[in-house]
Amino acid sequence: MSPQPHSRHLQRAALGVLTAGALVTGVLVGAGPSQAATSKPCDIYASGGTPCVAAHSTTRALYAAYTGSLYQVQRASDSTTLNIAPLAAGGVANAAAQDSFCSGTTCLITTIYDQSGHGNKLTRALGGYWPGPDVNNYDNLAGAAAAPVTIGGRKAYGVFISPGTGYRNNSTSGIATGDAAEGEYAVLDGTHYNGGCCFDYGNAETSSTDTGNGHMEAIYFGNSTSWGSGAGSGPWIMADLENGLFSGIHSGYNSNDATISNRFTTAIVKGTANQWAIRGGNAASGSLSTLYSGVRPTASGYNPMSKEGAIILGIGGDNSVGGQGTFYEGVMTSGYPSDATENAVQANIVAAGYATTSITSGPTVTVGSSVSLRATTACCTTRYIAHSGTSVATQVVSSSSSSTLKAQATWIVHTGLANSSCVSFESKDTSGSYLRHSGFQLYLNANNGTSIFAQDATFCPHTGASGTGSSFVSYNYPTRDIRHYYNNVYVASNGGVHTFDASHLWSDDASWVATTGWSS
Ligand code: AHR
Repeated sequence: MSPQPHSRHLQRAALGVLTAGALVTGVLVGAGPSQAATSKPCDIYASGGTPCVAAHSTTRALYAAYTGSLYQVQRASDSTTLNIAPLAAGGVANAAAQDSFCSGTTCLITTIYDQSGHGNKLTRALGGYWPGPDVNNYDNLAGAAAAPVTIGGRKAYGVFISPGTGYRNNSTSGIATGDAAEGEYAVLDGTHYNGGCCFDYGNAETSSTDTGNGHMEAIYFGNSTSWGSGAGSGPWIMADLENGLFSGIHSGYNSNDATISNRFTTAIVKGTANQWAIRGGNAASGSLSTLYSGVRPTASGYNPMSKEGAIILGIGGDNSVGGQGTFYEGVMTSGYPSDATENAVQANIVAAGYATTSITSGPTVTVGSSVSLRATTACCTTRYIAHSGTSVATQVVSSSSSSTLKAQATWIVHTGLANSSCVSFESKDTSGSYLRHSGFQLYLNANNGTSIFAQDATFCPHTGASGTGSSFVSYNYPTRDIRHYYNNVYVASNGGVHTFDASHLWSDDASWVATTGWSS
């Protein structure tokens, strides 16, 4: 393991001077001295007089001079860890190092380092008011390969937050407290969200409990309408100020907070004495919109603020774990950044060139075809995923099986209900019903048209975990693959709190051969 990044204040100060001219014009790319052209978000914030005091990214360095670790992964096979650094100073993460280290096993993101030199790294959150779902009330960790992207054509990985996943630091340095000024931005997947509480990034309570109005100031992203909402049907960028997601001055609806669902979305929340703002836009092109800028909410407790200075990612202040989303990069600053500074940061994000890449691998299952899914574990190579009513289990199927059983073991492959790169499996004999997980067990249920059904019924094919056939990774819980365990079928992680998450034989149990369907 490489050590934590050390302070680079002098380098950053120098870069700040060099970028100041570029900030005046708001144009950074291809203009001015070469050093200015390579400035990264935290160089830009520094030159604007509002330096980063936390800088988190699994995809790229957020300072032009940064060469330290971006994040740490841990692999299931032997529990060893590896720190991932940029390919070069100020560059994109070395995703190839992760791929090599994690080959043939699974990896989780254990730490997201703080590039700012303040030591504000994020690690697995421990339950607070709400317990986490993992052992000893900890939250889950994100799968290291669950959110692949390219940046400027180079592969990198984001942090895919399923409900139950969360990172936190309750003992920070330099983060705003009380009514002190701060800025926050994050680059997120604008198509991955839900209405649960709360997919947040930013300032929260140091106790992991709800200590009252105004004790948080975090970016929220999703379509929760439990507190505030904006125009359209969401998702919205809102400010989680504790006991309220605020889309503007009012506690409920604010029409100026537009739905923003760009695949790559820039989200900004900033606050200072009786002033705060929400800004956002497309992280892949164009500029930022100001969605609110004005005085603090009039509801009691939000002016002055009582920020506590902890940092959360993927969860609410009290460790509410119902939210989901994907995080690529984000920072927190000291001081209230100017719009011009944020506009320059947005230009830098756009210039970095976030783009999608394949989230599947290995043998394909052809949309429109009928397949049967055969187990590959030595015990069970004559068994196929089959339903009986709404129950799903593996059954022995052969050419001499009844036509009823053959049909129960045959699945029509559809484009994924929740993601067009993935697939969904419709029952051959029960039209309109799909394989879906619920409570992490597989069932056959009629498609009720909800977002959660679509997500539960979407699986992304990957090269088989054992190297044989295919694994089918749950779209909304990508640390979990379709796995048989004592002939029942689950979406299971490689080790975890459920008995069906047992590591023993996980790779074999989670590897399937897709054959021509038994029923034509
Ligand atoms: O403010 C919304 C949420 O309310 C916070 O994130 C959480 O701490 C509380 O449940």
